[in-house]
Amino acid sequence: MASIGWVLLLFLAQLHTLLSTSIAHRADGGNLTHLPVSFLCHPNQAKALLQLKKSFSFSRSTTRLSSWRNGTDCCLWEGVGCDPSSGHVTILDLNNRCLSSHGLDPALFSLISLWRLDLSMNDIGGDNIQSAGFERFTFLTHLNLSNSGLYGQIPPSISKLVNLLSLDLSTYNIDYSLGFYGPNYYDYYNNLWESSFDTFVANLSNLRELYLDSVDLSNSGEEWGTSLAAYVPQLQVLSLADCSLSGPIHKALSRLHSLVVINLQGNFDAAAGPFPEFFMDFPNLTVLQLSETNLEGRLPSRPFQSKNLRVLDLSYNMNLSGHVPNFSNASSLETLRLDGTNFVYAIPTPSSNFASLKELALNRNLISVDFLSAFGRLKSLHQLDLHCFLDNELDIDLDSGSDLGPIFSWIGQHKNLTSLGLFGCNFSGVPPILLSNFMNLKNLEIDNCDLPRPMPDAIGELTNLRNLYIEFAWFSGPMPAAIGELTNLRNMYIAHCGFSGPMPPAIGKLTNLRNMYIVDSGFSGSMPAPIGNLTNLEAMDIHGCQISGLIPYAIGQLNKLRWLVLRGCNFSGSIPSSIVNLTQLTMLDLSSNSLNGT
Ligand SMILES: *[C@@H]1O[C@H](CO)[C@@H](O)[C@H](O)[C@H]1NC(C)=O
Ligand SMILES: *[C@@H]1O[C@H](CO)[C@@H](O)[C@H](O)[C@H]1NC(C)=O
Ligand SMILES: *[C@@H]1O[C@H](CO)[C@@H](O)[C@H](O)[C@H]1NC(C)=O
Ligand SMILES: *[C@@H]1O[C@H](CO)[C@@H](O)[C@H](O)[C@H]1NC(C)=O
Ligand SMILES: *[C@@H]1O[C@H](CO)[C@@H](O)[C@H](O)[C@H]1NC(C)=O
Ligand SMILES: *[C@@H]1O[C@H](CO)[C@@H](O)[C@H](O)[C@H]1NC(C)=O
Ligand SMILES: *[C@@H]1O[C@H](CO)[C@@H](O)[C@H](O)[C@H]1NC(C)=O
Ligand SMILES: *[C@@H]1O[C@H](CO)[C@@H](O)[C@H](O)[C@H]1NC(C)=O
Ligand SMILES: *[C@@H]1O[C@H](CO)[C@@H](O)[C@H](O)[C@H]1NC(C)=O
Ligand SMILES: *[C@@H]1O[C@H](CO)[C@@H](O)[C@H](O)[C@H]1NC(C)=O
Ligand SMILES: *[C@@H]1O[C@H](CO)[C@@H](O)[C@H](O)[C@H]1NC(C)=O
Ligand SMILES: *[C@@H]1O[C@H](CO)[C@@H](O)[C@H](O)[C@H]1NC(C)=O
Repeated sequence: MASIGWVLLLFLAQLHTLLSTSIAHRADGGNLTHLPVSFLCHPNQAKALLQLKKSFSFSRSTTRLSSWRNGTDCCLWEGVGCDPSSGHVTILDLNNRCLSSHGLDPALFSLISLWRLDLSMNDIGGDNIQSAGFERFTFLTHLNLSNSGLYGQIPPSISKLVNLLSLDLSTYNIDYSLGFYGPNYYDYYNNLWESSFDTFVANLSNLRELYLDSVDLSNSGEEWGTSLAAYVPQLQVLSLADCSLSGPIHKALSRLHSLVVINLQGNFDAAAGPFPEFFMDFPNLTVLQLSETNLEGRLPSRPFQSKNLRVLDLSYNMNLSGHVPNFSNASSLETLRLDGTNFVYAIPTPSSNFASLKELALNRNLISVDFLSAFGRLKSLHQLDLHCFLDNELDIDLDSGSDLGPIFSWIGQHKNLTSLGLFGCNFSGVPPILLSNFMNLKNLEIDNCDLPRPMPDAIGELTNLRNLYIEFAWFSGPMPAAIGELTNLRNMYIAHCGFSGPMPPAIGKLTNLRNMYIVDSGFSGSMPAPIGNLTNLEAMDIHGCQISGLIPYAIGQLNKLRWLVLRGCNFSGSIPSSIVNLTQLTMLDLSSNSLNGT
């Protein structure tokens, strides 16, 4: 019986591949009037879909599902795919439409022929999700309900989907570069928990991909590893980031040697135990993310078995020590993050070939010219993060290696860098002109750095910059007018930086700016009127400053503003009447100033 089921599953999986290609071909539009009169779609399935459509609110959506019209072939509707011979609806993919509904309409569960259901990035949470009839989807192989606004226990009916190959119930954090106050993505966050992980996975024995990032598994005990090993032997992707898992990482997991992706980052408040050495033996491992897992002890100095390791992230495991991982051949490595660890290097350690390395993050133990030079010039490097200090608890000698000058020269060879992050670094010895080496930089993040002089004019040469993020960096002197040259800037975040003097009027040249966040950063004088030229601004949040005088009348020109905070400064006089033109505002806070008027 079991083997017949398995053969059927394989057959169906292949049919499914065929289907997706034929659907992709048919789904991309065309004028409905040119279609044959006989529809593929079954009327009852069209009816169920229309019922579903009725349950959605389209207030923030990126679609109105206008192709979903009674009397037309539902197999051609947006996001719908059908089996070409039977006409049954097999795919419903409404991923990332920002639709919202209060729970899932029961009509959905009459589409029992579905293979693939993706409602991710829509707000569909509601009380009825617990009793939802997922068990009716007996053919379902792919279910994606990530970022869908779900809350409560994982619906038990999902654990009955024995044919599932891929399950995604994660909450993915939205990257800040999308905008600090972008669409209200929090509405889409799942807030799910599961206290009986063992029961949950017991019948999901065909799973190849399991993504439960941010699902609260804190009450599932330590058996999550043994349960997975016992019930889900063919697992290839295991993603349980930020699940409040309890450690240690059980050695039963060594049975899951087909794993290709392992992401357990942000777990194990209590120790995860020693580095799970058996992961090094998985032949197909490509991604290993174990940052912030409280690993302790030493990393074994033998190489990984896998020839295809792309991502190795061991960052923020303060008690993990030993030498930098030993790569016999690192030619496939793209990401190496070792910041916040206690690794040391032994020259000549990186004798391997790092030609593919795109992202490198190191902590101060490793930031030395000797070590970096051993990497050679990294032709593919796009992102570099240097954490010049460790947690103070670890009592690292702060005097050695703090001179960034020669290190900047090494960095400066990497003209393809698009992201540079500097954390706790001392810039005293760095010639400001070195900044102009990074013409391709899109993201610059400076946090907790000692900057005992004015911001250099050379900042204006980073003309491709999209995101500027500076926090706890004590500049002396004013912000240079050269900042106005950053005409591609989308997001500016400046917090706890000691600028003196007024904001430069040239700031009005940053006409692509979407989000401006300036907090506790010391500006004084009046606010420059050209700020009214930032007409693409969606959020302006300036608080904790000495800026005085009137709020410029020109602020009323910023008609895309959805968020305006000018709190805790020294503004006085009357609130400009032009503010009534900011019709998109959802947030207005002018408190703790000396303003009057209405
Ligand atoms: C589609 O059909 C409608 C109604 O017959 C017609 O008005 C329209 O021009 C057609 N569009 C195209 C692109 O052929
Ligand atoms: C679709 O149209 C048919 C015929 O016009 C009608 O009987 C049916 O009620 C409609 N269905 C929906 C869901 O509107
Ligand atoms: C699920 O959807 C999200 C967002 O649309 C996407 O990022 C993720 O990769 C999908 N998961 C799987 C397993 O395909
Ligand atoms: C798993 O499947 C078996 C056999 O169909 C069934 O008896 C059991 O209740 C199922 N377990 C869960 C948690 O659904
Ligand atoms: C590793 O991948 C290869 C090629 O896809 C496959 O044949 C092999 O079975 C995989 N090994 C494991 C242990 O999954
Ligand atoms: C790296 O691994 C190889 C092979 O196991 C071993 O010969 C070599 O000594 C190791 N290097 C270091 C620095 O541990
Ligand atoms: C590191 O180990 C020490 C001593 O065992 C322990 O006190 C400390 O809490 C550990 N730190 C972390 C971040 O795990
Ligand atoms: C490293 O691995 C790549 C591909 O796996 C191979 O092409 C290359 O020859 C290897 N280099 C060395 C020095 O073994
Ligand atoms: C930048 O990237 C190109 C294309 O990948 C490469 O050929 C070139 O050597 C790189 N430049 C540097 C300075 O690394
Ligand atoms: C930064 O470096 C300068 C000179 O290189 C040194 O005088 C200063 O003490 C350093 N500051 C810190 C916090 O290490
Ligand atoms: C602001 O824009 C106006 C007209 O668009 C222009 O005349 C003025 O020079 C601009 N101000 C600055 C400082 O860019
Ligand atoms: C609002 O905008 C309109 C059109 O640009 C303009 O005529 C009007 O004067 C503005 N109102 C205020 C109070 O600035």
